[in-house]
Amino acid sequence: SRVVKLAVIPGDGIGPEVIAEAEKVLDAVTESAEVTFEKTRFSLGAARYLETGDTLTDEDLAAVASHDAILLGAVGGMPGDPRLKDANIERGLLLKLRFALDHYVNLRPSVLYPGAPGPLAEPGEIDFVVVREGTEGPYVGNGGSIRTGTPHEIANETSVNTAFGIERVVRFAFAQAEKRRNKLTLVHKTNVLVHAGGMWKRIVDEVASEHPDVAVDYLHVDAATIFLVTNPGRFDVIVTDNLFGDILTDLAGAVTGGIGLAASGNINPDGAFPSMFEPVHGSAPDIAGQQIADPTAAILSVALLLDHLELSDEARRVTRAAREDIEARDGSARTTAQVGDAITARLRA
Ligand code: NAD
Ligand code: IPM
Ligand code: MN
Repeated sequence: SRVVKLAVIPGDGIGPEVIAEAEKVLDAVTESAEVTFEKTRFSLGAARYLETGDTLTDEDLAAVASHDAILLGAVGGMPGDPRLKDANIERGLLLKLRFALDHYVNLRPSVLYPGAPGPLAEPGEIDFVVVREGTEGPYVGNGGSIRTGTPHEIANETSVNTAFGIERVVRFAFAQAEKRRNKLTLVHKTNVLVHAGGMWKRIVDEVASEHPDVAVDYLHVDAATIFLVTNPGRFDVIVTDNLFGDILTDLAGAVTGGIGLAASGNINPDGAFPSMFEPVHGSAPDIAGQQIADPTAAILSVALLLDHLELSDEARRVTRAAREDIEARDGSARTTAQVGDAITARLRA
């Protein structure tokens, strides 16, 4: 039978707490399936850095890359920890993985499930997906500062945008739209970021001419934040730059019942490298170790992982179990493990 080699990176803070529940669900849904997951656990993150001084060695990267897929919790240490002053776990680990494994699509679906505690009075139906570019933009680390720490400091952070990089993610977004409701919204800031924005707009227009069935519109990112709150139902597929996509997807999580429900996939669609699935949220140091984090985002990330591996039946079962759990919530407090157990029980039912 089929074997999937899965790298598991629980990470820091609530990462290990939510990944424990995600693994329970993964184990349960594949119990009787035609597939076996062979898991390798990687100790990576702030805790590992504090222990060994390493963030992600070449050996770590090669080992992770030799798997078929990756499940990650979250990374990032306690804010203000002086021992982490010179570390940059986010850049040196998370972004390094996304860049090295060419995760040029960061897929972040937002669905308002029945019963989810959204903040909007009349949300209507919300079901859209953000296709966030994952390997370019202001995230490339192309910058520097001079006269650092003086009143004359100059710090630059250059956004790198390539025609190649934009076209491939835009093509992916159009393909998504065709599998969904044939609507695509480009979000950028073309009125100010004329060079990069102009290229995004031109490439979207060019690719659009090959997809006459897809209705295309454009929003400046500031206006997009308005509509995400006032009329989120207008969105089907949003395609956007790395940084705009980061910000919009936290907002999207908030309007669809909280960041504890928001799942994501860092995808290398070409299949040359393993894709990596993780909740949208971070290590949440403010609630870490208390067993109060919602593991649903990690569990729904498992559904995205299964879907990516073309285990669509298993993916559907996980999503349905999570959805039923959300619908049955009555506001009473549950531990992280209780939520994971409840979703696992629904899977087995
Ligand atoms: P965060 O997402 O960790 O937390 C923001 C808020 O949401 C906090 O109040 C937190 O308690 C809450 N929250 C997050 N996940 C939750 C869950 N599952 N259930 C309930 N509440 C939840 O964002 P932050 O505070 O800006 O970042 C904390 C650290 O995580 C930083 O070091 C940051 O760089 C890192 N981070 C890592 C990732 C990742 O590994 N993918 C993503 C985002 C942030
Ligand atoms: C996310 C996070 C990361 C990002 C950080 C931790 C590097 O916020 O996955 O949304 O900005 O992409
Ligand atoms: Mn983010």
